Amino acid sequence: MPIALVPALALSGASPADVDVDLMAVPVFEGDDPAADLRELDAATGGAFMRALEAREIEGKAYETFVTPVTNGWRAARLAFIGAGKRADFTTERLRRVATAAALGARQRRVQRLGWLSRGDLGSVEAVQAAAEGLALSAFSPDRYKSGERGAPALDQILIVASGAGEDRSLLEAAVERGRILGESSNIARELCNEPSNVLTPAVFAERASEIGASAGLSVEILGEPEIRQLGMGLLLGVARGSAEPPRMIVMRHMPIGAPDFPVLGLVGKGITFDTGGISIKPAEGMERMKDDMAGGAAVVCAMRAIALLNAPIQVIGVVPATENMPGGRAVKPGDVLTSGSGKTVEVINTDAEGRLVLGDGLWYAQKLGATHLVDVATLTGACVVALGKAASGIFGQPDEWVEVVRRTAQAAGDRCWPLPLYEEYAEQLRSDIADMLNTGGRPAGACTAAMFLKEFAGGLPWAHLDIAGTAWVEEPKPWLPKGASGVAVRTLAELAFTSAGWK
Ligand code: BES
Ligand code: MN
Ligand code: ZN
Repeated sequence: MPIALVPALALSGASPADVDVDLMAVPVFEGDDPAADLRELDAATGGAFMRALEAREIEGKAYETFVTPVTNGWRAARLAFIGAGKRADFTTERLRRVATAAALGARQRRVQRLGWLSRGDLGSVEAVQAAAEGLALSAFSPDRYKSGERGAPALDQILIVASGAGEDRSLLEAAVERGRILGESSNIARELCNEPSNVLTPAVFAERASEIGASAGLSVEILGEPEIRQLGMGLLLGVARGSAEPPRMIVMRHMPIGAPDFPVLGLVGKGITFDTGGISIKPAEGMERMKDDMAGGAAVVCAMRAIALLNAPIQVIGVVPATENMPGGRAVKPGDVLTSGSGKTVEVINTDAEGRLVLGDGLWYAQKLGATHLVDVATLTGACVVALGKAASGIFGQPDEWVEVVRRTAQAAGDRCWPLPLYEEYAEQLRSDIADMLNTGGRPAGACTAAMFLKEFAGGLPWAHLDIAGTAWVEEPKPWLPKGASGVAVRTLAELAFTSAGWK
């Protein structure tokens, strides 16, 4: 499978004037005294930059761009000044986004070799990694299935120019490489999500996960229907019953030599390759979106790739239960009772609440394989979109310290999450008269009751649940984010594997 690889992305220590690129992107802040450290740059443009500032053609507002030819002294053909907003608002996420916007703009201009100038504070290890991530994210293209004219081609080469003294070069080089791997892994997840469900069946998803995992040095095991049955994972089997496509359980392991026995991170991703709702079928309008109901699974597969390539210091297990949710003749019906791998029984009153079913078995299986700390990621509920919109993913879990570790990591990685509660009262909504629990708690607090259902399968371990229903898919494009799959949670899960020092 051709996977979206990022253009050559490297660090250059050369003086900016000596870097041979078609376009050099230069972030500029709003309200800065541009004369201070941009005098040399202005000279390279023959004064065009200062004239543009004076004429307010560019003010430094986020994502504004001003492109002008180099008139003297520099090897770069053109400079692209890109607004980075006010210095006071300048977070790593803003930097990441500005870098992506600059590179997407360069693609539109059919640039082949792009430079990114990291001046001042932008030259720190953290900033260079964020810039590398952002630049790498620009390589994603959603038009694989267009037979004619495609969008702008990806860049051939990107150089991050950090000539500042102070920072250790090898640390900066490692930061570029880390950013490249994280950006690239996010792009691969976006590609998987964008795949239509007739291409990306559960079996094909598992094959792609095997290829991605093998090329990163992970051990990958794919369980087919007989093995899933043998292990007793009746929730996954129940959801799969309505489909002609057999289910898969994808298991990926990162086991670095010399890693401790504790902790073992278990990542579980919802892998519904298409969600029709099953017998409780969804309305036709917008149903095509449901090909991305495996976004959590793609995030786990691609985070595992990054974890292996970056050689995280702990053992990590990735588990993705993959199936379609279809209304076939043998489909699970409202009122049916399923038995999970853990032995808990579930009365299925709405077959469209399938994600929590497959995740229930996934969480149980990750524990069975030895996970001591759990995170699951899922496009789980429309209710989470109602609560938070597209501005943040919902985060739930226990204990609070673990949820906070995951939330902080997500925030730093650019995957904003907002905590939602798991009050005991929500368990009452899941009470069944005939089985251990119902699979839905009705409309009130729909995102919370879904999370409460999952909690029953976390076995009391530290566990966090990310509901990415609102953040996995972009409908309104942004300067840094085209329409389509967003790649949410890949960087969070990967970075999490490097935070184990304080875990309890
Ligand atoms: N995959 C959907 C959730 C979803 C909805 C994701 C919209 C992205 C956008 C999930 O399987 C689902 O159908 N959830 C139901 C649960 C309900 C039946 C309790 C929902 O949210 O309506
Ligand atoms: Mn559903
Ligand atoms: Zn679903």
